[in-house]
Amino acid sequence: MEDLITKRPFGTLPDGRDIELYALTNRTGMHVSIVTYGGIVTSLTAPDRGGLLADVVLGFDNLDHYLAGHPYFGAIVGRYGNRIAGGSFTLDGENYSLPVNNNDNHLHGGIKGFDKVLWRAQPQSTPDGPQLELTYLSADGEEGYPGQLDVAVTYTLTHDNGLRIDYRATTDKPTPINLTNHSYFNLAGHDRGAILDHRVSINADRFTPVDSGLIPTGELRGVDDTPMDFRDPIAIGARIDAGDEQLLLAGGYDHNWVLNKMGNELSPAARVSEPTTGRVMEVLTREPGVQFYTANFLDGSLSGKEASVYGRRCALCLETQHFPDSPNKPDFPSTVIRPGDLYETTTVYRFSVD
Ligand code: GLA
Repeated sequence: MEDLITKRPFGTLPDGRDIELYALTNRTGMHVSIVTYGGIVTSLTAPDRGGLLADVVLGFDNLDHYLAGHPYFGAIVGRYGNRIAGGSFTLDGENYSLPVNNNDNHLHGGIKGFDKVLWRAQPQSTPDGPQLELTYLSADGEEGYPGQLDVAVTYTLTHDNGLRIDYRATTDKPTPINLTNHSYFNLAGHDRGAILDHRVSINADRFTPVDSGLIPTGELRGVDDTPMDFRDPIAIGARIDAGDEQLLLAGGYDHNWVLNKMGNELSPAARVSEPTTGRVMEVLTREPGVQFYTANFLDGSLSGKEASVYGRRCALCLETQHFPDSPNKPDFPSTVIRPGDLYETTTVYRFSVD
């Protein structure tokens, strides 16, 4: 089988701009669909033990459902993925105010983050597999952030069944940046209900505990003897409702883990396996952290692809990232880039079977 890239219309924005859907298929027959609105991954297939492909990401059948509002299904998240406390931070002595859209905090880039903008698309065949490069120019002051930011996010469907995401950005003023992808995975299939039987391991000795607004307290806490210990694979449901104080605050897992790594090398962050189908997803990243979120806020009210109902905890997210609220936490790894810097990071979601 040859690599294949196709393109089709996916609807029109209220202002008349057209949205396209690109479908990338690799040599093994795995495919991913990405739309130019929000850079959203709308479908992603992966084979089970018997080679049967299933769509393993949540999403909608048409643009109107995406426009009607949703919790970041499959989207590129930026300029700053995750929360900034109080929607404010100080950089080089200057105070910046961002819109607050999550209680008193700024979440996932604000009211109109990168998940809701139109990206310019450039498809290409590469030796690694079919690829789609998306670019966006974020204006100085957009959603309160300083500096014009030139962003490129490249999706490559590799021959070894990986969805590799390369992020690049430059700026003309110092700005915080924290880009991620917010895909919701269910390895049994997007419409197969709760993910509590999925087994997860996370390569982290520590996590960042949060307050009631899900803002990190600043502590890096050891996972020893807590339900945050995923160093050995364990079912998501094993400890999720066991009354742990951190899990009660978030209604389940919705925390950042501090990955065990040397520097910013591409290294294993997490592994997920689904026992009935054998599907496995490995997550590799250059980022220092990962937000493991068990879709605690889904409630069955969204009508998903093929008329499926997405209930509470029917998917999981592994959002690779710098730690939440880093602009207000001088001890966390810095998220600031400056003119002349090249922001460059990579995450891979690789699929196989057990
Ligand atoms: C992230 C946040 C969650 C939630 C989801 C989207 O995972 O940490 O609290 O906002 O995104 O609903």
